[in-house]
Amino acid sequence: MKFDIVSIFPELFDAPLSCGMIRVAREKGIISVNTIDPRAMTSDGVIDDYQFGGGAGMVFKPEPLTSALESVLTKDSTLVSLTPKGERLTQKMVADLTRHKHIVLICGRYKGVDERINEIFKPMEISIGDYVLSGGEIAALAIIDTITRLLTGVLGNKDSADSDSFQTNLLEAPIYTRPHVFMKYRVPEVLRGGNHKQITEWRRRKSLEATLERRPDLLANSVFSKKDFEILLEVLNG
Ligand code: ADE
Repeated sequence: MKFDIVSIFPELFDAPLSCGMIRVAREKGIISVNTIDPRAMTSDGVIDDYQFGGGAGMVFKPEPLTSALESVLTKDSTLVSLTPKGERLTQKMVADLTRHKHIVLICGRYKGVDERINEIFKPMEISIGDYVLSGGEIAALAIIDTITRLLTGVLGNKDSADSDSFQTNLLEAPIYTRPHVFMKYRVPEVLRGGNHKQITEWRRRKSLEATLERRPDLLANSVFSKKDFEILLEVLNG
């Protein structure tokens, strides 16, 4: 998977792309990441201008962005623009994006990008949440991170991505490691008993409880067994 990031702050990516899973994925050649600075595409260094019609905030000019995009786009590229106006990123979208070979990420700054960029290049517009970042860079990193960890050969244990919250549309059950008593707080006995059927049931119950309590919206897309319904009813009835 190849990522090209169009950003006026290429240095912002240095540390996040040099640590942990992403560093390993790059070293193994599973992903490659390149940055393109639209400012370097200008003769005067100017990449923003006032809004037509008035209003606070500067707008990313179309010419430097177009030059940057034309320098990397091919017929096999998928173009993504990071913007709070975009479709909200979900694990399903991330999984779909893993099928693409080359993803070009536009990191907006200021008030946003001149609309003609959307008209001409028709990017997928993606938001990583209902809040406003100072630019698309952190959102681009979220996209690279979430895609990379799903690519074959990146995570040591494939199950660790399969059991993630959202991959199953349920939040994960609590997890514990040693020591089994910490500041008088104990690991639940069931997890130490070695009975795998009981452990699976306990985890399912905790998952259902947490999802019902914190993210009931996710339940609409989950698949339930008869036992799950019994648990949900029990939780609802206190
Ligand atoms: N740029 C600014 N805010 C953003 C958000 N929430 N998602 C994606 N890009 C952004």
